[in-house]
Amino acid sequence: MEPYSHHVLVCTGDFCSPNRRGRQLYSLLADLLQREDLLFGPQRVKRGETPCLGVCSNGPIVVVYPEGIWYSEVTPALLERIVVEHLKQGKPVDEAVFHRL
Ligand code: FES
Repeated sequence: MEPYSHHVLVCTGDFCSPNRRGRQLYSLLADLLQREDLLFGPQRVKRGETPCLGVCSNGPIVVVYPEGIWYSEVTPALLERIVVEHLKQGKPVDEAVFHRL
């Protein structure tokens, strides 16, 4: 198996983000990764969804590994910045980070 450069977890649970916003983000993430050419090759990104990350507020919550950077209140516009600036250019969106491992 070819390695991944990053693994992105999106919480799709209803406690941190009602109205299915996490699920919508998870779907949008697939489109953004494809648009930015991050599905194949050395920069490829693995996407995953989880029912809960233990935060349960200020969602949707998105976590990026291997850096262990946690984002809160992720909107579609912020997700686009995470994909372009963090995943593609290697520069986390610092103002939206609420936790680092
Ligand atoms: S439901 Fe999203 S962190 Fe718990």
